Amino acid sequence: MKICLETIEEISRWLRATGKEAEELRRQAHETKLRTVGGKVYLRGLIEFSNICRKNCFYCGIRCGNAAVNRYTLSRQEVLSSARFACREGFGSVVIQAGERSDEAFVSEIEALVEAMMQESHGQLGITLSLGEQTPRTYARWKKAGALRYLLRIETSDAGLYAGLHPSDHSFHQRLSCISSLRELGYQVGSGIMIGLPGQSVEQVAADLLFFKAMDLDMVGMGPYIEHRQTPLWAQRHKVPSLQERYDLSLNAWAVLRLLMPDINIAASTAIGSISPKGRQEVLYTAANVIMPNLTPYTRRKEYFLYENKICLKESHEDSKANIERLILEAGGEPGYFEQGNSLHFFYKTQK
Ligand code: 5AD
Ligand code: SF4
Repeated sequence: MKICLETIEEISRWLRATGKEAEELRRQAHETKLRTVGGKVYLRGLIEFSNICRKNCFYCGIRCGNAAVNRYTLSRQEVLSSARFACREGFGSVVIQAGERSDEAFVSEIEALVEAMMQESHGQLGITLSLGEQTPRTYARWKKAGALRYLLRIETSDAGLYAGLHPSDHSFHQRLSCISSLRELGYQVGSGIMIGLPGQSVEQVAADLLFFKAMDLDMVGMGPYIEHRQTPLWAQRHKVPSLQERYDLSLNAWAVLRLLMPDINIAASTAIGSISPKGRQEVLYTAANVIMPNLTPYTRRKEYFLYENKICLKESHEDSKANIERLILEAGGEPGYFEQGNSLHFFYKTQK
């Protein structure tokens, strides 16, 4: 069966696919994945550096307006100890993620951490940052320190929907401009969306996928939206599709994404695993070639609580590794130990 994915209408039709059609969509995505990026799944040790955030996004559990959150920042030694574990176990890469802060103390601490990880790993560790909107100067400092990739989710490519999900001082255009700066600075650039947001149409998700292609992204990290009680969006939970609907729509979106952008890196998000125990396996089978085992010290994990039912809150680093390895093997993949697993798309682009 030929799958045409050129217009929003065509993509929306496939996003709504069920039964045999959905199976065929996911089968073709799986084949495309094997043919382009192959069966290896690369590991990125996720270090949730701090849950302090100056932003107040309406969907997020660690938004600054949530007074119930116990705020923390990891010490340099805690981060380096997680990074050492990642290196020793052959993870190849780490992701440093945190709420958004842009003060000099924060910027220079990240800079020092990146430098230290580069030095200790003799430049072997692929460092990804996910630290929100910053000035081009900050992005340049972190790049110079050794960061290779940057993740900045657009959350939705629809400016109107974006405005409804954020306070009025959060700017969609600012986010786009950050993505452009990151690209100009030579980062491998990733973005992503949430799927199943209140008021989001299937057509808007289709437009998001075309937007990723138009933005020529190197990596995508997306996943289902999951409610959190201590957020303003909780009041709109009646407008959110059922968990099963969000799950099916997300899996179809992952399949379409792999067909649209065959050589990019795609992550199997933790959020899909929080909806169903088989979630990450299915995404790995269908489309994803990257997974992010959580390496945040587990005494802190419950504090990085973006949405309800977040998984992997209690496991040790060793368990985290063992679970992820099992998950990859169950999905028919092979863990890409001791490899950075950079985006092939980025590689091809920069070879030209
Ligand atoms: N459900 C799913 N994902 C969420 N994120 C934040 N809040 C939620 C939620 N309630 C995602 C956003 C953000 C990333 C750090 O976590 O996409 O970019
Ligand atoms: Fe902060 Fe990111 Fe949560 Fe928004 S989504 S409140 S920027 S951590």
